[in-house]
Amino acid sequence: MSHPAIPLGVPEMDADHAVLELMFERVPSTADADLVALYLEIEAEVIAHFDREEALMERAGAPVIHCHKTQHRLLLDQFVAMRPGETSVDPADLRRTLRILEEYVEGHVGSVDRVTSQFLGGTLDPAMVAALRLPEGG
Ligand SMILES: [Fe+2]
Repeated sequence: MSHPAIPLGVPEMDADHAVLELMFERVPSTADADLVALYLEIEAEVIAHFDREEALMERAGAPVIHCHKTQHRLLLDQFVAMRPGETSVDPADLRRTLRILEEYVEGHVGSVDRVTSQFLGGTLDPAMVAALRLPEGG
């Protein structure tokens, strides 16, 4: 497995993040004519990754999973909003757009995913975890 830039110590997450990083790394060397296809390829992989990550969190009973899922939905909304149209795609614009999306993904991994990985790895303060949960039966 290649190692992601931000290793989190959860093999499933690290493997997926490394795959996404390699896809974004292809942007500069991808021919203009192939950029839209790469965009759609990355978007599909992000969707599949989020599905796997959410299943992992659900199995583990991760705290604030609804907030994490919302962050995923918001990020996917950005992919939809920035998705290139059918005609007249400016390759330079699309490369900039992909760089922005890469930064969004990196920001997500370094923040929300980092907290989740600490929970999954058992290194998150239990008192903090308890405080993160919504009151039950209230
Ligand atoms: Fe995530």
